[in-house]
Amino acid sequence: MIEEFDGLRLVCDRERPDVVQGVTSAARTLAGLLVQRPVRTALDLGTGCGVLALTMARRAQHVVASDVNPRALEFGRRSAHLSGIANVEWRQGDWYAPVRGRRFELIACNPPYVVSPETRLLFRDGSDATAGVVRTAAEYLVAGGLAEFLINWVHEPDDWVTPLHDWIPPGCDALVVHHATMRPGQYAETWVPAGPDRDARMARWLEWYRDRDIKAIGAAFLLLRRREDDGAARLQALEASTAPTPRAGLHAERMLRGTDLASRGDEALRAAALAVVDGVRVEHGTRRRSGEWQPGQATLRVVPTVGVQAVVPADLLPMLWGLDGTRQLGAVLTDLPGENRAEGLALARRLVELGFVEAAADRS
Ligand SMILES: C[S@@+](CC[C@H](N)C(=O)[O-])C[C@H]1O[C@@H](n2cnc3c(N)ncnc32)[C@H](O)[C@@H]1O
Repeated sequence: MIEEFDGLRLVCDRERPDVVQGVTSAARTLAGLLVQRPVRTALDLGTGCGVLALTMARRAQHVVASDVNPRALEFGRRSAHLSGIANVEWRQGDWYAPVRGRRFELIACNPPYVVSPETRLLFRDGSDATAGVVRTAAEYLVAGGLAEFLINWVHEPDDWVTPLHDWIPPGCDALVVHHATMRPGQYAETWVPAGPDRDARMARWLEWYRDRDIKAIGAAFLLLRRREDDGAARLQALEASTAPTPRAGLHAERMLRGTDLASRGDEALRAAALAVVDGVRVEHGTRRRSGEWQPGQATLRVVPTVGVQAVVPADLLPMLWGLDGTRQLGAVLTDLPGENRAEGLALARRLVELGFVEAAADRS
């Protein structure tokens, strides 16, 4: 079969253990989350029909697409040919084995992340490998290079972050946007396909979860950035309130710039002329209480988005309206009563980190 996506033609096929899927919703999601910066070298790990490799090939000088499944590479080559793309090198092997010793500016990987007792489907099963693929990424990134993954993992119902600390390699900053957590029953409902043996398979999956005391499985987007040093890993954990949109990579990249600016300290932040970015939507309500109108807190969303939102308390809204890129933040903070300025500075830092506000100098 041939599927079309974003001007690409992708060759894929039907159900069989080494099926090469077409453009799944996960592939669309990660394609949207890819940063849009031009790069010299990119790697698509577990390329399947080649959708991420070919998406990156438009902004990369050279892309390596690897997969353990030889049919995937055959299909990827055909997809590239049909899409008129010639700068992809197709390599067969286990995860990073085909690119040992090489380094990339961008890595994309939508691994077989489904947590289950099954091992039949190459594209879906084998979630044990995901943590290793993330951890090893640091060895294959240039300084400043980025690696983007979709992941599923087992966690305690009230703490999705702790297990991920073990996944982030030294010398890397990680941004994790948590999109959902499912109980095992709901997860099995989602992943066990329809068919005459569905009830028996569901029962087997649930027993497997029970035996392992698995109570919750999370789903997230994970972005790694390789630093120059090999110091301790840093993890920024964020909760999503919506699904990521197409071109969410623009938001992700702004968040990286924002994290850099925010880490430079209070004085650098006060000295920056900050502006609310285009595409931000502010929703807030005012309600009547004790005979007076009381403005409520505002919720900020942006499009394109990785899915996060931000909240601005009502008494800090004057600062938000003042962030138009014409004045330094330090001057805008004086729009607030003295007792609110420290809180205003902390909020400005948060909005910069979350990519709702940026240095006017960075505006594209
Ligand atoms: C979920 S599919 C993703 C395919 C495609 N990148 C996409 O986003 O649609 C996972 C891919 O990983 C490949 N894969 C599974 N195990 C692998 C391994 N050990 N080494 C390399 N690739 C592997 C599968 O063959 C499959 O193509």
